Amino acid sequence: MDHFSFKHGVLHCESVDVTALASRFGTPLYVYSQQTIVDHYNRMVTAFESLSANMCYSVKSCSNLSILALLNTCGACFDVVSGGELARVLEVGVDPKRVVFAGVGKTDLEMIAALDAGIGWFNAESEQELEILAHLASQRGTIAQVALRVNPDVDPQTHHHTTTGKRETKFGVDLPLAQRVFEAFAKTPSINLAGVHVHIGSPVHHIEAYVDSIKRTLDLIARLRAGGHTITSINVGGGYGAHYTGEEAPTAADYAANIVPLLQGTKLTVMLEPGRSITANAGVLIARTIFKKSSGEKQFVIVDAAMTDLIRPALYDAFHFAWPVAPVKEMVPPQRKHDLQLEGTERVDIVGPVCETGDFLAKDRWLPPVVRGDLLCIFSSGAYGFSMSNQYNSRPRAAEVLVHGDKVKLIRRRETYEDLVALERSE
Ligand SMILES: Cc1ncc(COP(=O)(O)O)c(C=O)c1O
Repeated sequence: MDHFSFKHGVLHCESVDVTALASRFGTPLYVYSQQTIVDHYNRMVTAFESLSANMCYSVKSCSNLSILALLNTCGACFDVVSGGELARVLEVGVDPKRVVFAGVGKTDLEMIAALDAGIGWFNAESEQELEILAHLASQRGTIAQVALRVNPDVDPQTHHHTTTGKRETKFGVDLPLAQRVFEAFAKTPSINLAGVHVHIGSPVHHIEAYVDSIKRTLDLIARLRAGGHTITSINVGGGYGAHYTGEEAPTAADYAANIVPLLQGTKLTVMLEPGRSITANAGVLIARTIFKKSSGEKQFVIVDAAMTDLIRPALYDAFHFAWPVAPVKEMVPPQRKHDLQLEGTERVDIVGPVCETGDFLAKDRWLPPVVRGDLLCIFSSGAYGFSMSNQYNSRPRAAEVLVHGDKVKLIRRRETYEDLVALERSE
């Protein structure tokens, strides 16, 4: 699952003692395990090897430059959704041909930047986007390589905020319209509409939903091919699970066992866009206990990390396993499970200092007793953790470190109060 483990009662990331990291870099602190990132990436590649699939890491899940550079050296392609994410991958020397660009609201400036960089694929999400892209490409005397994102109207059975492949969501073009869009743009010289993209949501543990959406997409491709269109690629998106509440996610091999047979022999270049399955279990958020207090039956552990550092609990009611970094009496968790309740534990809410009742990291958890100054680890925070963080309440963002064996690299320094105000000072 990952390379975080308790050694002599203290949490380690690979070979490094996490208490030492907190003393050196302060808290809140994101700690990533390089080996875990590489392992999860390699598992996806191996599982889909028979298709020679292009693994396009979804940059939004964790977009730190050092992590992008690491995945670039592993041979990854990259899925970006903004000009900012494109700038990040170009910054670390990614070959633009290995970049795919999705998103329902690409601005002209973002499309121009991507055209000028010469990216591999635009994943277009509407007819209007195609019109504008065609116009911009023609102005620049270039041809954009485009896949149409379709909305297969399949329920991925995940949180409604992260469901994207149902008809009522804003993403992609529904299947009947998709065929008409291919016909309308077939002869537009500045775009080569030759692929289909589908991403139904995340995380998707219900593998049947992938099967359903891919079958519907392949039916569309068969109809398009029968109508004389040349379709060279299918991008089946991301959403592959990670472990949050235990060992609940299907493995890369489980997904592949169901998806690969559908795509074999289709003569399509296959792309996937995994994000969380690579980075979620590879990162943790370390926080220090500031105070403890009780209110009625409730016991609160107030820590120095907040919804500004990890918004998933507040936004999606997401579960993250939490435990002291150096628990009393070396009470290490036998498993990281949602219903773990050991003797000697106390029932607490772990909350942050932000002025919102929604500012919590964990609710109703049985934790070994903690006191002021103790460190807590919020596990499985590597994806949509730092990348969704913000400065609400004028809180400087956390630092990030990457651990490889016994080596530690500060990959983003902690923001300062100066950083908070620098862009607002009048000349
Ligand atoms: C188009 C697209 N591809 C890939 C992903 C990555 O999803 P995950 O990180 O769950 O793999 C997302 C996530 O929102 C997405 O919108």
